[in-house]
Amino acid sequence: MLHALVLAAGKGTRMCSTVPKVLQPILGEPMLLYVLEAVATVCEQDNTSVLVGHKSELVKQSIHSKGITFIEQGEQLGTGHALYVAWEQLQHQGVDRLLVVNGDVPLLSHSHLHSLLTYFDEEQLDIAFLTTTVEETGDYGVVIRENEKVYAIIEAKDLDPSLYSELNEINTGIYVFSMQKIAPLLPYLTNNNIKGEYYITQLISLAVENGLSVGAICLEDNKELLGVNTPLELVESEEILREKICLYWLMKGVHIHNYLSVSISPTVEIEPGTVIYGPCTITGKTMIGEDVVIEPYCYIHNATIHSGVNVRSFSHIDSASLGSHSRVGPFARLRPDVLLGNNVRIGNFVEIKKSTVGSNVAINHLSYIGDATIGEKTNIGAGTITCNYDGSVKHSTTIGSNVFVGSITALIAPISIGDNSTIGAGSVITKSVQANTLALSRSEQKAWQKK
Ligand code: UD1
Ligand code: MG
Repeated sequence: MLHALVLAAGKGTRMCSTVPKVLQPILGEPMLLYVLEAVATVCEQDNTSVLVGHKSELVKQSIHSKGITFIEQGEQLGTGHALYVAWEQLQHQGVDRLLVVNGDVPLLSHSHLHSLLTYFDEEQLDIAFLTTTVEETGDYGVVIRENEKVYAIIEAKDLDPSLYSELNEINTGIYVFSMQKIAPLLPYLTNNNIKGEYYITQLISLAVENGLSVGAICLEDNKELLGVNTPLELVESEEILREKICLYWLMKGVHIHNYLSVSISPTVEIEPGTVIYGPCTITGKTMIGEDVVIEPYCYIHNATIHSGVNVRSFSHIDSASLGSHSRVGPFARLRPDVLLGNNVRIGNFVEIKKSTVGSNVAINHLSYIGDATIGEKTNIGAGTITCNYDGSVKHSTTIGSNVFVGSITALIAPISIGDNSTIGAGSVITKSVQANTLALSRSEQKAWQKK
């Protein structure tokens, strides 16, 4: 039986962040989720374990996939120790082939893993691992071969550059082990090296010394296989994926202008014919219909944008749904739980939160609408505020259809305004207004002749 083990217990010191390394985001999604997605293409989730340790609760919470099990590595004493701890848990589960994947290789894909597993099976190996070539071997473990045959991986810190300066093949941290053959070697791992850690890579030389068959398959110059350990490597990987995703959508018929400045998460769906102008960022489970136009400098997260919508420049949209042919912005902010009907007009400096807005409504300038329901064809004048918060509790506002709210109106919630009503500009409305009513609360204007 094939089991997959993803190593995700390390702290990631070189990342200089309080966020565990495997949770560092790439296009808005934690690195670990990419790795698990790739692993899921070759191994069932019921047969997948994630080794956790540093901030393990946070790491576990980020994974919603059912079936995946977690193994705790109390102290993180190195990748060799990680395998040792995991094997203590897995050894009675009938695992024969163990796929081990570092949790910091976010661009890993099905084809890489498929190549490795096929190579392992066809060559009948006891250990197979994936390598690639780089110009500078940097912090990676370097693969040592003699007459083409692999016989060791030497970690960067332990490498004598005068002996191995010519080498450019590195270990990518993705292995398949025949566990029955490898298990007897685990107790022989030592931490007798410059970092004082137990290295999984020591298994290569141990296996060769013990007459086991070891092979490495080299996918040359493959940047997708590079482990991410530093902020620079994080953004380099992100950039590779960002460009790949933009090219994918361009090929699918999405017009992405200035695409070098457009960032689209892999979880986003876009219909052909939509036009996006960079720079902009579109993340989360955003769905964009056809013939939508997104102008530059927009941030869109977890939104549903129906066909024909125009999102104008500098708009910030988070977890909102925009009905077809609506127009939002420039400089609009839609916060979570906003539901706009069709053909709605939201103009500049309008903020809407947790509200349902009916079709053909216009809120064109300088307003705050929160905890409100607005019927169809209503016009909300410039500077209208739903005063939803009394200092401790949020209250709701209901505005009917065909209502005209004059400019600079404060609606003190809880309150409702009936259909076809008109609110005079400059009013502070504290009591609900019946349907078909004109209400205003303006104080009488007085004037005195100047002396
Ligand atoms: C490792 C390899 C190196 C390879 C590189 C590829 C070792 C000793 N070295 O180095 O040969 O070129 O990956 O990217 O394995 N982890 C644990 N528990 C621990 C330590 C680490 O779970 O005690 C996890 C980390 O969370 C990480 C993975 O193992 O996901 C690899 O650890 P990392 O510290 O990144 O190893 P590298 O120095 O990159
Ligand atoms: Mg690493």
